[in-house]
Amino acid sequence: MGESSLSSIAITDNLGTCFIGQRVIYYPKLTSTMDVAKHEAQQGAIEGTVVIAEEQTAGRGRIKRAWLSPKGSIALSIILYPDLGYLSSLIMVASLGVVHCIEKVTGLKSRIKWPNDVLINDKKVCGILIESEVKGNRVDYAIIGIGINVNLRPSDFPEISSVATSLSHELGRDIPRLDMIRCLLAEIERLYLALPSGDSVYQEWRDNLVTLGKKVQISSDETTYEGIAESVASNGSLLLRHSDGSLTKIVTGDVTLRD
Ligand code: BTN
Repeated sequence: MGESSLSSIAITDNLGTCFIGQRVIYYPKLTSTMDVAKHEAQQGAIEGTVVIAEEQTAGRGRIKRAWLSPKGSIALSIILYPDLGYLSSLIMVASLGVVHCIEKVTGLKSRIKWPNDVLINDKKVCGILIESEVKGNRVDYAIIGIGINVNLRPSDFPEISSVATSLSHELGRDIPRLDMIRCLLAEIERLYLALPSGDSVYQEWRDNLVTLGKKVQISSDETTYEGIAESVASNGSLLLRHSDGSLTKIVTGDVTLRD
């Protein structure tokens, strides 16, 4: 795994974005990029500030899970100040941004498992965590955290090897993380800026979901639901059709595909 280290300047240099990634705070090692991004956001960091770490020692995932991010992976957080109406679309922007940039940089096709896991050949290659602070009808800040398994061997990590993959494992060679990061920041900015112009981001996200039409089990708020994932609404919630014909709207949860 002979890839050189990242740096703020290498990421920002001629990036071509308006604001995402114009300021990058880089750490060789950090507990979690979410913690630093939150602190920065609370201090009023400019929109689009990125916090990135070569390695996280306490990376976190959704539902209070730990997130493994050894050297060779990508772990970054992006600070945004969206209008409240766009908050629920950030999962779509982030997951689609990852799908696009994986394809552009590696040629690999990936799909999204609702709400925002990115899978290749049914195994997880990227996890996304969105944390925000809302006061009244105003978003104080929103942070998109993205972890991508890039240049690592899943078999070196037995705790995740049955459910996870990496780009290098799928492609059979290492991938320049710098290209992935720069592409990702540009792609996320493009999708984020497209939100006010209509439904295109939602429609593309929906079309890239591997979950729809499948029999699923969903854990949400300590309840487990089973049924067919029938559709998703434009606010990101999932409609689950049960065997008795009834429907449940699920806002957030953890999906297991049953077939
Ligand atoms: C999940 O799949 O549960 C979400 C994983 C999110 C991981 C990323 S890595 C960068 C950022 N920092 C963290 O501690 N978590 C997110």
